[in-house]
Amino acid sequence: MQFSKIPYFSYLLGMLFCLLMNGVNAKEERLLRHIPAEECGQCHEQIYGQWKSSVHANSTALTDPIHAAFYRAVIGDPLQEGVKKKGKYPICLQCHAPTAAKDGKTKLDSMPVYNEGVNCVTCHSFSKFKGTKKPGGGLQLGILAYEYSDSNLQGPSGRTIHPEIDSLGREAPMFKIVGNTTVLKTNAVCMGCHDIRKNFNKVALCNTGDEIASAQGTTDCQLCHMPVVNGKVDHSMLGGHSPPMVSRGLLMTMDVNTDTEQPTTTITLANQLPHNFPTGAPFRNVFIRVTAYDKDEKVIWQSSQSHPIKDDKQAVLMYALGDADGLPAPPPKATQVLADTRLKPHETRTLTYSISAEDITKVVAIAYYDLLLPGLKKKFKEVIPEELRQSQIVGTIEVKL
Ligand code: HEC
Ligand code: HEC
Ligand code: HEC
Ligand code: HEC
Ligand code: HEC
Repeated sequence: MQFSKIPYFSYLLGMLFCLLMNGVNAKEERLLRHIPAEECGQCHEQIYGQWKSSVHANSTALTDPIHAAFYRAVIGDPLQEGVKKKGKYPICLQCHAPTAAKDGKTKLDSMPVYNEGVNCVTCHSFSKFKGTKKPGGGLQLGILAYEYSDSNLQGPSGRTIHPEIDSLGREAPMFKIVGNTTVLKTNAVCMGCHDIRKNFNKVALCNTGDEIASAQGTTDCQLCHMPVVNGKVDHSMLGGHSPPMVSRGLLMTMDVNTDTEQPTTTITLANQLPHNFPTGAPFRNVFIRVTAYDKDEKVIWQSSQSHPIKDDKQAVLMYALGDADGLPAPPPKATQVLADTRLKPHETRTLTYSISAEDITKVVAIAYYDLLLPGLKKKFKEVIPEELRQSQIVGTIEVKL
């Protein structure tokens, strides 16, 4: 070996050492999207707790039994890598498991962040909303509707925040926050995933965006879905899984008229919302049951003997999907919309009944909400837990005579 080569050789060794050290550092310098919510939660405890119990934190096929039932039936196994639908990456993950989608992965337990679903970094890295409609036609949904930053978090205050050391002396997170009011303060932060979704036959399943577009007045999602609680923006994002939240969307009143030959009752249903009541997944539904009692609290008349879907259709607020023959079909298979009886934004509707009974002393109307239609409840009885298949009371009104 010539002496002149020694410095060169040791230079190479040095390079190798540096590369190795860089390798170690690179391991620590994770991508922004690989930061789990728990780490944000070290400082943002209250928000973390709300998010953790939210549907967003339980949106994957490994955490949401209803989504899982459909995902397994329509797409495949969430524990397998390389799953494809019609030769393509499964679209569901663009909204239900956005971090896995960013990495192009389908095995949802291969990294804990994949299974966090819609987590802190998902929303707080959206730098721009491109819209859900592709310029050349077609849809770009979920995170495909956004440009997202892999280096800076996005915050609502419009200021560059995230202190080096917080007030309790805890170390600062490695990512800066830049102010982005355009996305974080408007519908834009929700619409990529909540605007529209169609099945493979191009039948619209979820349409909250189009509903909103037809509404008057404020349509700011944060106003209702992210209220300020204890001085901080609430991240529970309540919806169909919370009966008290659902009940806020419906104003129900009742009138009983006994002057007529047969007593009649009129029930008024008023949607308080700028989107349908109920909105969202196509199998969400609300139905009303009316019961008349005598002085001994005995039931003497009922608006429905079985389920209103069978014998009192006017009292069901639902989205009915069907096949080519006009028979009911589940969302993945539907080829047409048979009927849409959900209350439109701010719509008021009345139901009238004549009560074929005498000596009525009390009439009670109860509104029930269901996450699933009766057929789907039955179909997925084995895989969806009881509490998600139970009808929930979201409104009661009583008139004593
Ligand atoms: C070491 C503590 C710490 C960690 C870890 C941390 N933050 Fe923060 N963050 C703060 C402090 C302090 C503020 C300023 C006061 C506040 O809004 O709570 C802040 C503010 C924010 C804001 C508000 C910005 C604005 O425009 O008002 C957002 C959004 C945010 N953090 C998101 C996150 C996310 C997402 C993570 C995880 C990737 C995270 N933070 C991790 C301490 C932390
Ligand atoms: C990256 C996609 C994504 C973004 C962005 C997003 N969501 Fe969601 N959201 C989802 C998914 C997926 C679900 C359904 C999860 C499930 O049930 O499996 C959901 C569910 C919900 C629900 C239903 C809760 C329930 O009880 O069923 C509400 C309400 C909601 N989101 C509100 C919002 C609001 C408000 C915003 C904007 C601030 C927003 N979301 C942004 C994907 C997203
Ligand atoms: C579905 C989207 C979404 C998710 C998921 C989400 N955020 Fe937010 N976050 C927002 C939006 C939108 C705002 C601004 C709301 C506003 O100002 O009206 C916000 C505001 C904040 C703020 C400022 C709060 C304040 O009171 O000013 C902090 C801090 C924050 N988020 C932290 C987090 C952390 C930590 C997580 C995860 C545990 C998280 N966010 C998950 C959408 C989201
Ligand atoms: C005036 C208050 C209000 C506003 C504004 C509002 N919502 Fe809602 N939202 C509700 C209530 C109440 C419910 C429960 C009743 C229902 O499901 O329709 C709900 C339900 C939902 C659900 C649950 C659907 C499901 O399948 O469980 C989603 C998703 C949703 N809203 C999205 C949005 C989005 C996106 C925006 C903004 C474009 C928005 N909402 C604006 C009050 C509001
Ligand atoms: C554009 C975003 C988006 C895509 C793509 C998407 N979803 Fe969803 N999904 C949502 C949102 C948002 C909700 C909940 C709120 C609502 O109902 O609007 C939801 C709710 C659901 C629910 C009801 C969950 C519950 O807890 O009740 C099922 C089931 C579901 N999706 C299955 C699928 C399947 C299967 C695919 C893929 C074939 C898919 N979704 C693709 C956004 C999406």
